[in-house]
Amino acid sequence: MSDKSSELKNESRRKLLTTTAYTAAGIGAACAILPFVDSMNPASDVAALASVEVDISNIKEGDAKKVMWRGKPVSIRRRTKAEIEEASKVELSELRDPQTDAERVKAGKEEWLVTIEICTHLGCIPIVGQGEYKGWFCPCHGSQYDTSARIRKGPAPRNLEVPPYEFISDTKIKIG
Ligand code: FES
Repeated sequence: MSDKSSELKNESRRKLLTTTAYTAAGIGAACAILPFVDSMNPASDVAALASVEVDISNIKEGDAKKVMWRGKPVSIRRRTKAEIEEASKVELSELRDPQTDAERVKAGKEEWLVTIEICTHLGCIPIVGQGEYKGWFCPCHGSQYDTSARIRKGPAPRNLEVPPYEFISDTKIKIG
């Protein structure tokens, strides 16, 4: 065999070996990554808790319903006309955490106020319908929230949080 033909043979063998090695490495890497990708997909029970559907047809005006969402208590309050009026006439300058009532509810669905019932001071559960402003009262250190769940008095720095939610129908909301 001439030197040239043996050189050519060696060259093509080298190429074949390199390609095989790269392919094997690629498959190995893909196999190693797969479990990580899979573990990044939430389990179905976790995904189920990510959102919760609530039937609101049985909540009477002036009442509230509590549900748990992602381990947090959420209040769905059906406000009276007087409570909505009370909340919407407040000047922003009077508020520690300025937000209009309209920013905290859905347009056209003003009677419904959905809030995470965790006091923004140190995390106690405030009592609905209590306190000077008839919104929420936190017995731990006396924070008072109004009928839009905005902080009005006491040590809490912020309004009660409004979680992401939407109306699926007139009688059902989906939180999360
Ligand atoms: S935790 Fe509510 S006032 Fe302190």
